[in-house]
Amino acid sequence: GAMAAERALAMATCTAPVNIAVIKYWGKRDTDLILPINSSLSVTLHQDQLRTTTTAVASRDFTEDRLWLNGAEADVGHPRVQACLREVRRLARKRRGGSEDAATLSLLSYKVHIASENNFPTAAGLASSAAGYACLVSALARLYGVEDELSEVARRGSGSACRSMWGGFVQWQRGERPDGTDSLALQVAPETHWPELRVLVLVVSGEKKPVASTAGMQTSVETSPLLKHRAEVVVPERLAQMMRHIRERDFEGFGQLAMRDSNQFHATCLDTFPPLFYLNDLSRHIIALAHRYNAHHGHTKVAYTFDAGPNAVIFTLADTVDEFVEVVRRSFPPATNGDQFVRGLPVGSATLPQELVAAVVTEPVPGAVQYILHTKPGPGPQLVDDPSQHLLGADGLPRCRA
Ligand code: DP6
Repeated sequence: GAMAAERALAMATCTAPVNIAVIKYWGKRDTDLILPINSSLSVTLHQDQLRTTTTAVASRDFTEDRLWLNGAEADVGHPRVQACLREVRRLARKRRGGSEDAATLSLLSYKVHIASENNFPTAAGLASSAAGYACLVSALARLYGVEDELSEVARRGSGSACRSMWGGFVQWQRGERPDGTDSLALQVAPETHWPELRVLVLVVSGEKKPVASTAGMQTSVETSPLLKHRAEVVVPERLAQMMRHIRERDFEGFGQLAMRDSNQFHATCLDTFPPLFYLNDLSRHIIALAHRYNAHHGHTKVAYTFDAGPNAVIFTLADTVDEFVEVVRRSFPPATNGDQFVRGLPVGSATLPQELVAAVVTEPVPGAVQYILHTKPGPGPQLVDDPSQHLLGADGLPRCRA
């Protein structure tokens, strides 16, 4: 109506989750549209522990688009940010009928201010672009009243971001069409499907990763015969297996395959020329530790996975968390902040049997793990209703927070 059409300012705030792939995405067949060479599958992590919050404001009074990331002004002209803006606006224009159309049309002519913040240190090397772009797209969609499937838009920000548009267990199907309209994320199972599943993020390094994923994977596509074989032969088989393990809540199968797929991804990095090294000595230490722990118990109790950085993500079941966290504490005795070594969901104390210590805790490396974040699968992007949570004020500038 006329009233709504005159609305001078609109604001929306959303939160979005991080996801961790158990069948990895690595390599694009179209770098502009961000179309992958293989499908991938991930677990969405809970936003109580890891989340991005984004506020988007459109106002008649703004003279230019602006963007703030973690409080500092950033380049709103970044091509991937622009692609997301353009695509959400295109969907908003496509909407037909409805009394809000005039209001939407005037909103679409306004400049936007966007502020985005992570509740975890970006320097910790935790994948933040997936949550960031998923959150950007969710907030913009809310701002313009778009209710379409949005994973295709989030994909234009960062490939892995499309999987953060859903909670629980999520598949990004590679699609076949050259225009990318069938390259989207689908929920395989909701976060409630496997209540015992837990995730431990072992933060091992604050360093920035040596080669960014975007550049690294393109070199892999151009040079690695193993990556080609992986995309054509290995991933299609593994994807079907992984879906079955998830459906059956088979941790043995899920964990084994997650480890193998992480290892093959890092093998394709080594097969890239010049090679990419994302794992370091400490990552290899953690891998060996997990295998000793599983061997001691005679089955798969913990499973590791590593992305394009040295941090380890461990999947396990609730009944194993206390013991394994104690194993990590004994293996990597905290140098300082011993009390803050475990963060996130509560972890109980555990006394390790002597034979377990002897078999598993072989060569402790003090201070190597900064801290452990305990979390679990969680839901997709959420709308934030509480106005006190907006990151931008009514003037469209970042709010001063205590
Ligand atoms: C190793 O999604 O960050 O984490 O699409 O170029 O933005 P772009 O790459 P990005 O790559 C993620 C790679 C990975 C594996 C995964 O998440 O599937």
